[in-house]
Amino acid sequence: MYNSKISGLGMYVPENVVTNEDLSKIMDTSNEWIIERTGIKERRHIKKGDGNTTATMGVEAAKIAMKRAGIEKNEIDLILFATLSPDYYFPGSGVLVQELLDIPTCPAMDIRNQCSGFIYAISTADQYVKSGMYKNILVIGSENHSGGLDMTSRGRGVSVIFGDGAGAAVVSREEDLTKGILSSHLHSEGKYAEELALISPSTNRWVPEIIDSNDSEDISYYPNMNGQLVFKNAVVRFSEVIMEGLKHNNLSPDQIDMLIPHQANLRISQFVQKRFGLSENQIHNNIQKYGNTTAGSIPIALTEAWQEGKIKEGDIVVLAAFGSGFTWGSTIIRW
Ligand SMILES: CC(C)(COP(=O)(O)OP(=O)(O)OC[C@H]1O[C@@H](n2cnc3c(N)ncnc32)[C@H](O)[C@@H]1OP(=O)(O)O)[C@@H](O)C(=O)NCCC(=O)NCCS
Repeated sequence: MYNSKISGLGMYVPENVVTNEDLSKIMDTSNEWIIERTGIKERRHIKKGDGNTTATMGVEAAKIAMKRAGIEKNEIDLILFATLSPDYYFPGSGVLVQELLDIPTCPAMDIRNQCSGFIYAISTADQYVKSGMYKNILVIGSENHSGGLDMTSRGRGVSVIFGDGAGAAVVSREEDLTKGILSSHLHSEGKYAEELALISPSTNRWVPEIIDSNDSEDISYYPNMNGQLVFKNAVVRFSEVIMEGLKHNNLSPDQIDMLIPHQANLRISQFVQKRFGLSENQIHNNIQKYGNTTAGSIPIALTEAWQEGKIKEGDIVVLAAFGSGFTWGSTIIRW
């Protein structure tokens, strides 16, 4: 029997900062509206020609995580890459990381679970390590949203929220069964698939069909979101799945040392914080600086919290996410 633990963390965001003021110059929005509704002040966007892609950002985060874990590239047994914005339609970005890191024929798998992607990936890594099959797994969450957003007033309800960036964790074998990843809890509800989705291009609507329709009003290739429905479901599901994880491990909310919620909206995080009676020291939010980086958001926030010394050995750390699918999940860790 083995346990698994996070042995190293890293993050990478592009240098280019896009403030709310910058956005208000190109679409009908304002700094006040964005801060009041979402808490976001700025986000990072890849700049054309700066060399960043979903895979390369993941690699930069991964290099830091591997260094901190003290492992060499040839010790990585599996790459799990969570993203909704892979470099190509296919293959996934995991294989690009294998090539960029030059890990000969290491298996690589993409996880397509949007904002819950990192939780699903951590859960998958945990099972491979606990079964004894693999010792060190590189788990990456990375997104390049900016190039695919509708940056006009028409897309303002979505475009102001999302940012680019990547986070990575090395999940390693832990012999001490009282420490490490205790459990993960995953859910989905596909009836809401189209409430937060990017519909085209897809096998329902291939590129030739889009070109043939020659419709300048076609917005099916931009992400669409039923913001209020997402918000209502998010606050309920976040709370449920955190409680499920705590109960499973005989823990109570006051035993949470650090909650890392997926950075969807500061108001959602604050609702959950209040619901569990957590102080400012028991939750880490950074959506103010990076916006919603989807699969990147939890590993970026976790890395930042750890770097700032907010997570100590023995702490109960809770990760929780909700997003497109709908999918949601939590992971409970004794650090
Ligand atoms: C998207 C979200 C911030 C919108 O906030 P909201 O309070 O629900 O606002 P609404 O969508 O009801 O829109 C209210 C008004 O603001 C306008 N608006 C939308 N985006 C705007 C923007 N960027 N700037 C200014 N006004 C905007 C709308 O057009 C609407 O105007 P109207 O009343 O004249 O029709 C909010 O619904 C949300 O955060 N939802 C969850 C999103 C989320 O977490 N997504 C990620 C999932 S992981």
